[in-house]
Amino acid sequence: MAETAAAIDKKRIRGRSLKGEVLVTRRAYFNAAHRLDNPDKSEDWNREMYGCCNSAHWHGHNYWVEVSVAGEPDPETGYVIDLAYLKKVINEAIVEKCDHKNLNLDVDFLEGIIPSTENLAVAFWHQIKPYINQGRLHSVRVRETDCNSVEFRG
Ligand code: NI
Repeated sequence: MAETAAAIDKKRIRGRSLKGEVLVTRRAYFNAAHRLDNPDKSEDWNREMYGCCNSAHWHGHNYWVEVSVAGEPDPETGYVIDLAYLKKVINEAIVEKCDHKNLNLDVDFLEGIIPSTENLAVAFWHQIKPYINQGRLHSVRVRETDCNSVEFRG
């Protein structure tokens, strides 16, 4: 027997929400200085590898970080995760620790790490992960310049 349209619609509804996984993304901005340098290697090796990014007296970027959380809209709230909460988590776990800082010297969770965009994406994932209490952390994207960004998906 063919299902009625109403019966099919009903299967797509959870409480006051529709079924279906969606991706919720929040972006934050910060400015920071860094230098790409591997202290285990020679000055020549570092200069060759990193070019102007190895400049001894640092340089800066206007970073973006985008955190995406996946899940189905909650049947009561319509939210996957409360974006006001996600904003607060990103600010406390990343922005307040990195904004107007030197990523090589000032950020405890980056100590000993080359602050490449790749490493920032992974480090930020670990900063954020414990606080994602609704949905599941899908990705952390860090944008260093208009042309360069890195995404980590755990
Ligand atoms: Ni740089």
